[in-house]
Amino acid sequence: MDEMTKPLFAHLCVIGLGLIGASLVQAVHNANQRRSTPLVGKITAMDTNAVSIKDAINAGVIADGSTEIIKAVQGADIVVIAVPVKAMASVMSALKAAMDAGVLAKDCLISDVGSTKESVAMLADEIFGAHHHFIGGHPIAGAENSGFHARNGELFVQHKLILCPTDSTDLAQLAKLRQLWQGVGADVIEMDAKRHDEILAYTSHLPHLLAFSLTHQLASHDDNLDIFRYAAGGFRDFSRIAASHPVMWHDIFIANKSALLNSLDEFQQHLNEFKEIIETQNSQKLLDWLATSRHARRHFGHMLAKKSTHKPNSIITTDAIKDTIMSQSYHIRPQNHITGTITVPGDKSISHRSIMFGSLADGVTHVSGFLQGEDALATLQAFADMGVKIERDGDKVTIHGVGIDGLQAPKEPLYMGNSGTSMRLLAGILSAQQFDSVMTGDVSLSKRPMERVAKPLREMGAVIQSTGEKGTAPLSITGSQSLTAIDYTLPVASAQIKSCLILASLWANGTTTIREPEVSRDHTERMLNAFGYPVHTDGNVITVTGGGRLTATDIIVPADISSAAFFMVLGAIGGGDGLTIQKVGMNPTRTGVIDILKLMGADITVTNETIVGGEPIADITVKPSDLKGIDIPEHLVPLAIDEFPVLFVAASCATGTTKLTGAKELRVKESDRIAVMADGLATLGVESTVLDDGIIIVGRGVAGERNAIFGGGVIESHHDHRIAMSFAVASARASDEIIIQGTETVNTSFPSFAELANSVGLSIDVK
Ligand code: S3P
Repeated sequence: MDEMTKPLFAHLCVIGLGLIGASLVQAVHNANQRRSTPLVGKITAMDTNAVSIKDAINAGVIADGSTEIIKAVQGADIVVIAVPVKAMASVMSALKAAMDAGVLAKDCLISDVGSTKESVAMLADEIFGAHHHFIGGHPIAGAENSGFHARNGELFVQHKLILCPTDSTDLAQLAKLRQLWQGVGADVIEMDAKRHDEILAYTSHLPHLLAFSLTHQLASHDDNLDIFRYAAGGFRDFSRIAASHPVMWHDIFIANKSALLNSLDEFQQHLNEFKEIIETQNSQKLLDWLATSRHARRHFGHMLAKKSTHKPNSIITTDAIKDTIMSQSYHIRPQNHITGTITVPGDKSISHRSIMFGSLADGVTHVSGFLQGEDALATLQAFADMGVKIERDGDKVTIHGVGIDGLQAPKEPLYMGNSGTSMRLLAGILSAQQFDSVMTGDVSLSKRPMERVAKPLREMGAVIQSTGEKGTAPLSITGSQSLTAIDYTLPVASAQIKSCLILASLWANGTTTIREPEVSRDHTERMLNAFGYPVHTDGNVITVTGGGRLTATDIIVPADISSAAFFMVLGAIGGGDGLTIQKVGMNPTRTGVIDILKLMGADITVTNETIVGGEPIADITVKPSDLKGIDIPEHLVPLAIDEFPVLFVAASCATGTTKLTGAKELRVKESDRIAVMADGLATLGVESTVLDDGIIIVGRGVAGERNAIFGGGVIESHHDHRIAMSFAVASARASDEIIIQGTETVNTSFPSFAELANSVGLSIDVK
């Protein structure tokens, strides 16, 4: 045989035919059948149970085997030890004896599959002495079932396999071991043994210990039969891994004692804090903790879901995008008495930008008033995934900037959830990095147009690939390009496209000019200037020169006028005394909603105007108003782009007809807001005519009266937070119950919406 047709190893011997060992021999056997050149020439095995050996020979997966190590390993050039950690010492001693007896080559590669690595590495040092050929390995795969018959030849496919080489590891042998595992489908990574044990203590050993502990606790109750009989899904999900093999976990807990005890100490401390939060009924903190966990778990969930469909060297296919299961709904009884003074959460656009610019700045940025919604948290997570240290305590965020060239390659695709702003702005930043990246999103974001940013970025020299005919996410960006400034006229007024290009320009050679058809929100321009990076604006023309740096600054995020808009309309259409919304951001590129409502005759007063952190803020008071239908001036459209769904609710309550044109962009928001609103309004008995670029709504208001405008009905949110909240506002003038489905999407921008709406008079039951 010449080199090209030689198997990777001549003879593999697996010690132990439990689940992992048996799956390994099966997987190598399968790979041998598949390949023109076998992965391994000969496979043998050792197991203390003669029946397992016989079964394995009969199944054709091993050529030979023995219950004695010295016989099984004869002539092997690789031995993989697949026995419980505790049995490792005696197996290694037997291997050493085989070497000393000249049965096993002294330079035979020895590896293992144990769940802890430091103690095993120490044993190898002790038993084999200097210059040994042991490399620890650990497949992150398994099941609760054990034994030869539980084997699965696909067990390692697309699962991580951790190898723990040391400074003295033979690199040629390391490369071969890597190829062996890759040959059975594993995704091989390397890690120091100590680090492996610390990480596994958190991600595997501690969760197993907790599952065993809770199950043990319940089993010790006298009435345990009743407890288990009535145990619900929560117990089932949580305790599943407590059915794992006791001997194996006994060995792991002992072998990884010190890392496990550290993680357990941290857990106990955390649990005590949780206990105190509940004891003191600290609702805000409790909600914050639960929301943080939920967000993190969903993020992991998406990461894990994506992983199994990830094909090396290709972008993730759209098939990989799983719809988020929408299970939450609002059940809203009509309530017309609306009164109160409230504060809404921080501005979404500004929150996103604070994380992005803080991360890219030199120095530490402190943000207060940060929006704790899923969209802004997706941006935060993305920068954390790129190596930025970000600490968050409620709405206070501290960002340890890494400088303009300090981002690191993310290990996984960046998951943007529902957030178009995150994906589009990040496209500009990522196009200029030295590393490749992939961005994915949820089902709604995965339908939204991304070519609008990809096209001008390509003109600058970026290499960016969108997916499908429509040019949607996932986006795949190839790093290490050099970008050049362009002069670009935006086809639509969009702050996201504008901001994406401004951001890419920071790394481009020369001065980029961006021309907008209409003025759109200017938070990027304002905040970059606040970070000491000059961006010039002259009417609708923005210029920015690459090559500068950002200097950390403190950001105070004002309350989001887009969230306040729901309460402005609620105050105007409801009865009662009306509403005051405090300290709302009044950036002139965002106040179109106030102008439009005033044109409709709303009784709005703006007081306490002041400037905070470079952005104007004020209190907005809206009293019950007689609204009238209007033709909405087109120049106001970009200045109220996110507020139209709730403005349609206002228009439904007005006397006469309201006409919106020049708003085609509404069709490519989180949902097609023209079609989805028209459908929902029809369900509730309001007539409208859908236009290509807008809508005509026939108001049902009667001058001087607070009549019911809407009937009851079931509305679908279409993964769009603003659709859900707008129809909740409609309940103030409904005759019957409105049910809104898929309301978890509200968490993207306004997690406290239902609570706040109920505090001023609505009756939303979240189910
Ligand atoms: C945003 C810009 C707007 C807006 C979105 C937030 C931003 O989108 O609808 O909610 O933060 O830049 P477009 O730029 O697509 O109009």
